[in-house]
Amino acid sequence: MNQIQRGVLALCMLASGGAFAADAVSLTIDAAKPGAVINKDVYGQFAEHLGTGIYEGLWVGPKSKIPNTKGWRNDVVGALKNIHVPLVRWPGGCFADEYHWRDGIGAREKRPVKVNTNWGGVDESNAVGTHEFFDLVEMLGADAYVNGNLGTGSAQEMSEWVEYMTSDSKSTLANMRRKNGHDKPFKVAYFAVGNEAWGCGGNMSPQYYSDVYKQVETFLRAPKQYRPKIIASGGNDNDVTWSEVLSKEVKKQTDGISFHYYTIPTGKWEVKGASTGFQENEWISTLANTLRMESHIQKNSAAMDKNDPEKKLGLFVDEWGTWYDVEKGTNPGFLFQQNTLRDAVVAALNFNIFHAHAERVRMTNIAQMVNVLQSMIITDKDKMLLTPTYYAYQMYVPFQGATSLPVTLKDNPDYSAGGFKVPEISASAARGTDGKLYLALVNTNPNKDADVALNIPGQSIKSVKGNVLTSSAMDTHNTFQSPNAIKPAPFSAAAGADGKLTVKIPAKAVIVVAVE
Ligand code: AHR
Repeated sequence: MNQIQRGVLALCMLASGGAFAADAVSLTIDAAKPGAVINKDVYGQFAEHLGTGIYEGLWVGPKSKIPNTKGWRNDVVGALKNIHVPLVRWPGGCFADEYHWRDGIGAREKRPVKVNTNWGGVDESNAVGTHEFFDLVEMLGADAYVNGNLGTGSAQEMSEWVEYMTSDSKSTLANMRRKNGHDKPFKVAYFAVGNEAWGCGGNMSPQYYSDVYKQVETFLRAPKQYRPKIIASGGNDNDVTWSEVLSKEVKKQTDGISFHYYTIPTGKWEVKGASTGFQENEWISTLANTLRMESHIQKNSAAMDKNDPEKKLGLFVDEWGTWYDVEKGTNPGFLFQQNTLRDAVVAALNFNIFHAHAERVRMTNIAQMVNVLQSMIITDKDKMLLTPTYYAYQMYVPFQGATSLPVTLKDNPDYSAGGFKVPEISASAARGTDGKLYLALVNTNPNKDADVALNIPGQSIKSVKGNVLTSSAMDTHNTFQSPNAIKPAPFSAAAGADGKLTVKIPAKAVIVVAVE
């Protein structure tokens, strides 16, 4: 245990309390009013052919000295299994709209080498293709989300890819899949028609995309038991027109509409802000910007409600996370950034938002899984380290498939700095699939502990037990020299003699506990 962890543990042991502190935030969980189930896919991940996200980070090939199974790194896959990754989106992103699936099947040494025009102009060996991707998701125990190529592809190409993956017939394509090593159809949970059609996916208008989407969807034929959910590629940021138009125009042909929103500290793409070494003004601006996810979901959901009041369509936030200036000395096209306590707080704030909108938000994918943007894992040759974001995902595992419960916060002060303000406490609660009640809490204030008085009407609370993630510095991060600089520590608190329980949350911390 290092010095920081000893400090955290000492703080956490002091963190329990009985009597309600006078200035405590009051938190009520309405356990008698269960809401929607939090789809496990809300904890999905995104792995694009971008930088070292796949090649090096995950895939080293079967002949590598780095221990691997079928070419996939054992260390990275093992770590990802520990956070129960439920779903992986592949092959992009912008990459998807220039990806031709036939380049990635058959003997690897015969596959064409292409240029990854979106991401650094590097060679794309096509070593990872459809079969390799399904090997990965199978090892992870995850579902597959395959993104089709609308930009430079065609209805025919997407239709044939779906047939190749899902057909149980004796068709030439199904037999080709068998010849390439997979007898049974692959299980494709989701298939998207293009990506960011408003930008890198072809600079289309929502009206034009709707027509092309309907044309393509007509030909995405799969046997009923293998039919993926088909996703229409939607809008981003403040733009709700895509949700408005698509929920009207393609309602009958889709299972949901995607939405992308990235958190940038400065709010400006030209100079985004650094991933480490930032000051408090960029701590709070990052949190304020990430909390805009709430209004983005509200607005897109309201737009969809007009055409889909029964909420048949999902709003799939299939790209989200922090996007900083790339680390100095790295290829700007590789989008490599460090990951600090701030990223874990960003992840937890978003999880709490997704839980509150579980009825509509049924799937999300953080960008991205390894070495790219807000990643779970960073690798360097044969070494890997786990990021604070990884630990946030690990702590929130009990929320996968849980039933959300309404949470009300009273007397929750704002934390203000640098002209920004955000609520000090963010929370969510759910009944886990194991029957336990779970509570997640975030203290956004980097300078002050916070007391939160718990209340569950009709139920006495004896104790809370779980984990806390915090540190002395806002930008604490793990490095290959110091891989355990930040990791979760045990956290517990017990009710006092008066039967009341106040949780003392350390400054800048994420807590997930089971409530008993
Ligand atoms: O995640 C990186 C890129 O961001 C994706 O390829 C694209 O869809 C988005 O603009």
